[in-house]
Amino acid sequence: MGRGSRLLANVIASQAALHRRFGGVVPEVASRRHLETVLPVVDQALSEAGTSLAGLDAVAVTAGPGLVGSLLVGVTVARVLALALELPLVGVNHLEAHLYAHLLPSEGAQGFALPAVCLVVSGGHSDLIYWRDHGDLEVLGRTRDDAAGEAFDKVARLLGLGYPGGPALDRLARRGNAHAVSFPRAYLEEGSHDFSFSGLKTAVASYLRRVEREGRAVEHADVAASFEQACVEVLAEKLTRAAAQRGVRGVGVCGGVAANTALRREVRARAVARGLAAWIPDPGFCTDNAAMVAAAAWHALARGTARLDPIVDPNLPVDGVDSGAGGTGDKPRNPS
Ligand code: KG4
Ligand code: ZN
Repeated sequence: MGRGSRLLANVIASQAALHRRFGGVVPEVASRRHLETVLPVVDQALSEAGTSLAGLDAVAVTAGPGLVGSLLVGVTVARVLALALELPLVGVNHLEAHLYAHLLPSEGAQGFALPAVCLVVSGGHSDLIYWRDHGDLEVLGRTRDDAAGEAFDKVARLLGLGYPGGPALDRLARRGNAHAVSFPRAYLEEGSHDFSFSGLKTAVASYLRRVEREGRAVEHADVAASFEQACVEVLAEKLTRAAAQRGVRGVGVCGGVAANTALRREVRARAVARGLAAWIPDPGFCTDNAAMVAAAAWHALARGTARLDPIVDPNLPVDGVDSGAGGTGDKPRNPS
C-alpha cells in the first residue's frame, strides 16, 4: 500500500450467486445481504490478520458513489465501530479506491508511479483519469452511455451466459476468433477521450438476430471474442493515446473489467508500442475489494486529507473534480 503499510487480510463476500438468481443486482436484495455478511467479514478479516478490534488505528469505508442501501449498511456499521473504539472514521470514494489498487502489492502494478493516466472500468464507470498526484485527479473522459462492465454483462446475457456476465464472457472468448465478426469501434469525435458502448451492444444484438433469422449456426465463442476485441481495442487505444499526449511514463487500468484477459493483453501491447509502462493490478485487486479502500484511506490519513465522518452520497464525485454528466456510480443493471 505504501511505506509503513502491509496488507494483512482481504476478505470478499461475493454476492454473485445471489444476484444470478435475479439476472442482475436488485438494490434491496444487495443491501440486505450486506447487512447479513458485514460483521462476519470483519471478524474473518481480523482473524486472518492475526489481530482484533483493539489493534485497529482507523476504520475506512466507501461513502459513494454506489447503491444507497448498500452504502448505508457499510457506513453505519463503520461508524458504530469507530465510535465504540474511539477511532477516526475515513470515508473513501469508490473510484479513488479502485485507483489505489495500483498501490497494493501486486505483480501487475509493480513500479507504479505518478503521474499516470488511468482507466477505471467497472459495472458503473468507464472513466479516463489523469492522476497527477495524490488528491489531484482530472477526469479526461467518461462513457456517454453504458459503462464497459455493463456492456460486457448485457452482451453476456444476449449469449445466455447469466450473471455476472463479464468473467463468463472472458472465459468463452478465449476459445473464439476475435476477427470472426467485425463489430463497430466507437472512437467518437477526433480528440475525444469519451467512450460509448451502447452501439456495440446493439450491433451484437442485431447480428445475433440476423444470423438466427437466416437459420445459420451462431458460434458464441466467436461472437464473444469479436465483441470483446472491439471493446478492448477502443479502451486501450484511448488510454495509451491520452498517456502519450500527457507525457506520463505509464498507464494504469483498474475496476472489475481490468480483470479481463483481452483488455490486459491489449493495454500491454499498445503501451509497449508507445514506449509506456503498463500497470495493471492483479485481477483480485481489480474487482471490488476492501484492500483498495484501506489503501486509499491510508494515503489520505498519511497526508492529512482524509474525509472524516463521511455521510453517504450515492453520487459522490471524485475529489476536486466536477463530475459532470453521467458519473452516477454503480447502478442497478438495466437488463436491456
Ligand atoms: O469494480 P467492480 O467489481 O464492481 C463495480 O464497481 O461495478 O466491477 C464489476 C464489473 C461487472 O460488470 C463485471 O461483469 C465486470 O466488472 N468484470 C469483468 C471481468 N471481471 C469482472 N468483465 C470482463 N472480464 C472480466 N474478467
Ligand atoms: Zn467497483
